[in-house]
Amino acid sequence: VPVQSFICVVFGATGDLTLRKLLPALYYRFRDGQMPGDSMIVGAARSGLDDAAYRARARDALHAHVASTDLQGEVVDSFLAQISYVQVDGTGDTGWPVLKDVLGSAGERVPVFYLATSPELYGPICRNLARHGLAGPDARVVLEKPIGHDLESARDINDRVGEVFSEARTFRIDHYLGKETVQNLLALRFANSIFERLWNSDVIDHVQITVAETVGVEGRGGYYDRSGALRDMVQNHILQLLCLLAMDSPVAMQADAVRDEKLKVLRALRPIEPHDVASVTVRGQYAAGAIGGNPVKGYLSDLGEPESNTETFVALKAQLNSWRWANVPFYLRTGKRLPQKMSEIVIQFRALPFSIFPREAADLQPNRLIIRLQPEEGMRLEMMTKDPGPGGLRLRPTGLDISFEKAFATRYPDAYERLLMDTVRGNATLFMRRDEVEAAWGWVEPIIEAWESRPERPRPYSAGSWGPTAAIALIERDGRTWHEDVGT
Ligand code: BG6
Repeated sequence: VPVQSFICVVFGATGDLTLRKLLPALYYRFRDGQMPGDSMIVGAARSGLDDAAYRARARDALHAHVASTDLQGEVVDSFLAQISYVQVDGTGDTGWPVLKDVLGSAGERVPVFYLATSPELYGPICRNLARHGLAGPDARVVLEKPIGHDLESARDINDRVGEVFSEARTFRIDHYLGKETVQNLLALRFANSIFERLWNSDVIDHVQITVAETVGVEGRGGYYDRSGALRDMVQNHILQLLCLLAMDSPVAMQADAVRDEKLKVLRALRPIEPHDVASVTVRGQYAAGAIGGNPVKGYLSDLGEPESNTETFVALKAQLNSWRWANVPFYLRTGKRLPQKMSEIVIQFRALPFSIFPREAADLQPNRLIIRLQPEEGMRLEMMTKDPGPGGLRLRPTGLDISFEKAFATRYPDAYERLLMDTVRGNATLFMRRDEVEAAWGWVEPIIEAWESRPERPRPYSAGSWGPTAAIALIERDGRTWHEDVGT
């Protein structure tokens, strides 16, 4: 179903995110008929380019980031014809009158301002939008993560943006929320009756969330070195996954109802006290190693710096102060230069109270629900079953499997496709509200402060390994292990 016609002004139009993610996402929505043909995309950045030069960049970006089988010549040409470019200085005066003229011709199109810039510019750009009369009642603003660097800077950005755009018109992107399999968590939990009854500390032993990447810092060292894995991945993506897993049922599938429940989870996160930081968090930094047989450099060489205390891996044990989740640890880990790109959630159920089977008949494994977010999206419920054969009752674990790829045989749209269309529709369900972002910073910040107050450096791990051995010790100390597939 097509959305309303829109004009999407992308600040940071020459940047990596725009070229790698936003333009390809808009192209797919255009190709599939969801983006009306009279919609407009306006690239805005400081470089002095004209429309033709920017379209040429956009064309290159599509060729680099869209599957060639999905690029039909005429469709590409019609898509590019909807793109124009304005040279604008986000913090200064240059270009704004031109942008105003362009928006003046937008008619009934919904104005969307997408800020794909560094967060320091969010406040100044919004102020300029207001000063030039561009932040009308229909306009909405989209903010990329990270929203700030810590709680104080996040509040400051939220205040400045909030002076111009109301909360209902502010869309804070966490692209994990746009992933199909992440949205499927809502379906799993609230469109099926069987799991919700089991979703508590009576039945669940612990939860694991792993977001592993093979890439290193990929030329983003300037940003990454000031950020690190905790800020880059845990404060947003992983805590959002935790929220969707742990929250109570929202009263309706509506933006504030969902976000109210997620906020309660963030507020229930037990603060990690400075004296506990060493025992419940592990931070690592990749050293040289090999990924898929290819040698890769260590973080410091990638960065080109002699030293840095920035973590590229983090594992931690989080707990929630709630009756539902009392004594159910959530083990979280993420890192760069791990052996495979893989995100998954493991819900491990409690062991049997006792076994009626003779020990030699079975090594009874607890049930596990494994939700694979990417790649090979799917779910597996691991259960004990009888080994076929006449030789007596032997048991072994087997998986009840759903492969989404096989079940639906369709292309999985990129997260940005869904999220961009939601901003036009004005549906904020899959976006973060101000209080969520600030609550997440409020939990993460003391961990960073405790790390910074200690002399220890992040623990080195070889690129291509599953992180420092201390991350294994973190979970094994509690008599548990990271999900075995992960270790192989
Ligand atoms: C981004 C982080 O938000 O998410 C990157 O800044 C990370 O460091 C990326 O690589 C991972 O996203 P995805 O969709 O590839 O899992």
